[in-house]
Amino acid sequence: MITKPKGTTDLYGIEGKKWEYVNSMIREFCEMYNYDYMRTPVFESSELYHRSVGETSDIVTKETYDFKDRHDRELTLRPEGTAGIVRSYIENKMYANNSDPVKVYYNYPMYRYERPQAGRMRELTQFGLEVLGGDDPMLDAEIISMPYRLFEELGIDNVTVMINSLGDKESRDNYRKTLVEYLTPKIDTLCSDCQNRLKTNPLRILDCKVDKDSEVLKNAPKIMDSLNDESKARFEKVLEYLRLMDIDYEIDQNIVRGLDYYDHTVFEYAVDIPELGSGATLGGGGRYNSLVEELGGPATSCVGFAAGLDRVVLAMDYLNLFDKLNKSIDCYVMYVNEEEKMKAIEITQNLRLNGIVTELNNTNKNLKAQFKSADKYNAKQLVILNSEDLFKGLVTVKDNITKEEQKIDEYELVDYLISNL
Ligand code: HAM
Repeated sequence: MITKPKGTTDLYGIEGKKWEYVNSMIREFCEMYNYDYMRTPVFESSELYHRSVGETSDIVTKETYDFKDRHDRELTLRPEGTAGIVRSYIENKMYANNSDPVKVYYNYPMYRYERPQAGRMRELTQFGLEVLGGDDPMLDAEIISMPYRLFEELGIDNVTVMINSLGDKESRDNYRKTLVEYLTPKIDTLCSDCQNRLKTNPLRILDCKVDKDSEVLKNAPKIMDSLNDESKARFEKVLEYLRLMDIDYEIDQNIVRGLDYYDHTVFEYAVDIPELGSGATLGGGGRYNSLVEELGGPATSCVGFAAGLDRVVLAMDYLNLFDKLNKSIDCYVMYVNEEEKMKAIEITQNLRLNGIVTELNNTNKNLKAQFKSADKYNAKQLVILNSEDLFKGLVTVKDNITKEEQKIDEYELVDYLISNL
């Protein structure tokens, strides 16, 4: 038997319903906030990720699916959404004649070669938001508040926004120097990954999962002390706007994020769901004011976020938030002979076009089996056709809950069902 690759899932049945529900909420939410849907290719040139996510990041060094096509072009399955969106923003000159920020959302699969476990997939789905071309701290607050409210709307109301500021380049350079000076004599006490990071990306040492309880890290100099006045004031504004929007946040100076493109605001959504393991985050993001320029576009301030939907669905499962999703349909149409079947096809189409969720006997079952199917679908109303009634222009409608039956004029069926559903 051929089986699915490790770290991937098949979605069907009730699982499909759960994802459909979450997807529809996301779509509604993004429309409400005036964000447009955007899609970029599932593979891009490998160079894009090396230059954006970062040559020394875990994603690029250990997790990308890289391959060569038949003309030896080096390509990578997208491990995250931001780089592709930025590439497209530049390539399509979306900045031209545009004084308003470009606000987009996406919701599609990403690929990371990680060790699969609950909520950690190799094919993962991210819902993301990006605002390209806006520096106002108000936009940071908008991007942070939107998923927070969406999680709340989905029923996940125990989420905390963990927030930090990496400051501008000057602040970060200062901090990197201070941190390296502090860590160098103590680095032997930390794990081998941290020892490598001291040279390549010392800030990443702060959110090491292995050494997170080490005294060395607990006593490390704090980034807030290295922020210059401008960066500090900017961060204060973001926090002020968050308070105005009534968003619960906690400052966590160890958040640096695993991708290299961030500056100023960085944030994650922490949630206490044992199934996801300790320290699990539903999503994260931050400001990336240099990335567009680094990839060859004009200087453009941006801010964005992405959530792992596999984790969101797991969290909702844990909180029993899908209980109400048990499948039900409005109407099931029943018939026995060919003449009734012709009418059933016609009626079913008409009901569906009138917004009534309808199924019909698809496999020429006998009546008893059709009643069973209707119950399986939790049909609220049954439309039962028989040749004798049809001759008089009548159909039988049975309320599948109260079991009351009515014969009604075929032409009044739609109105009758709508007023009884
Ligand atoms: P990220 O932190 O790498 O950020 O991923 C965002 C979220 O995707 C994570 O918080 C997690 O929920 C989910 N995720 C990551 N890896 C996996 C996995 N293997 N399985 C399941 N879920 C996973 C980014 O990707 C940035 N592009 C976010 C961003 C957008 N920053 C600015 N704009």
